[in-house]
Amino acid sequence: MIYLDNAATSFPKPEPVYQALDRFARTSLANPGRAGHRMAVAAERTLDETRHLLNQFFGGEAPQRWILTLNCTDALNLAIKGVLRPGDHVVTTDLEHNSISRPLRALEKAGVISLSRVASKDGYVDARAIGEALNSRTALVAMTHASNVLGTVQPVEEIAPLVRKAGALFLLDAAQSAGVVPIDLRTMPIDLLAFPGHKALYGPTGTGALYAGPRTDGRIRPWREGGTGGDSSSETQPVVLPYLLEGGTPNVLGAAGLSAGVAWVIERGPENLRAHEVGLLARVVDWIDQTDGWRIAGRWDPATHVGALSLLPPPGLSPQDLGSILDVSFEIAVRPGLHCAPYLHRAIGTFPEGTLRLSPGPFSTDDQIAHFLHALAQITVGIL
Ligand SMILES: Cc1ncc(COP(=O)(O)O)c(C=O)c1O
Repeated sequence: MIYLDNAATSFPKPEPVYQALDRFARTSLANPGRAGHRMAVAAERTLDETRHLLNQFFGGEAPQRWILTLNCTDALNLAIKGVLRPGDHVVTTDLEHNSISRPLRALEKAGVISLSRVASKDGYVDARAIGEALNSRTALVAMTHASNVLGTVQPVEEIAPLVRKAGALFLLDAAQSAGVVPIDLRTMPIDLLAFPGHKALYGPTGTGALYAGPRTDGRIRPWREGGTGGDSSSETQPVVLPYLLEGGTPNVLGAAGLSAGVAWVIERGPENLRAHEVGLLARVVDWIDQTDGWRIAGRWDPATHVGALSLLPPPGLSPQDLGSILDVSFEIAVRPGLHCAPYLHRAIGTFPEGTLRLSPGPFSTDDQIAHFLHALAQITVGIL
């Protein structure tokens, strides 16, 4: 199989990730606990090490501010439901994945919050438009760093300071950027950073994290309460991070794999990893430019792009059919449809069929892209 669906989850994982998972599962897979037997303490140490590594990689304020979650959706819900209060105003964009759009829309429909959805153009949100949407009741700006449909990277360096100046919290969904676009919390005023561990940080599925910055202190509430592997005497959830937000047995095996994935990314360098993927996509863009009937969605600017690209096939060929033919006849895995981003597909006129998204990863090769383009050419000849 030629796997070009890394924007959904990365595959394969780097070898050290498999090794870490295997080693941990065989030797240390106890229920973590700060005051338990030595295997429990060792498992707890793995969680601590993961938090330290994330804190170092992203320049956070302290390791305990990293809440380990099930995935990016879990992290985003924790942030959104944790900080919003009745009467709050929230700013978001039309680029968002349903993991931001749905919780916000549900709160809006329930009359809890009011919501402004800023429109993007050619895949980019203008910082000025975000600035204009802010008002004195704006409690949160929640937006993606890179579109999971178009791969376009948003100007968060311009947006985050505007949000800070307005006194609102800034929640960044780094699902498509963590691991490929540098994020430095020391220089970017991001209050809440959410990402999956299983995409470009190369952990297994079932991993993710939320960074809860100092401005969320005393404000963010848990939406899951329970055991924390430590002090059990308190009647309610402990107020210290990360335990305030981490009830229940954590995915410690996943954390062992995530740590190995992050270490691998640090060694390779996010910018090198991004350059490899964007270089492969540039070949696809060249082919599209020279081929009748095909188009790409969004503006192609390699400097502000991650490794995801949406294609619009010629009339007569739906993204769904194309995805099935590529899978069944050519053993190529890509993702057709709406990619959980219906507002964006409406905005770019591709609703309800969507687009065909390809997303190479660090182990994708020139030959695989050549094979993919050859397959597109063959399929197109068949229908035109
Ligand atoms: C931009 C974006 N946000 C959020 C998510 C949700 O991530 P997860 O599946 O880890 O919950 C995705 C997943 O594709 C995404 O691309």
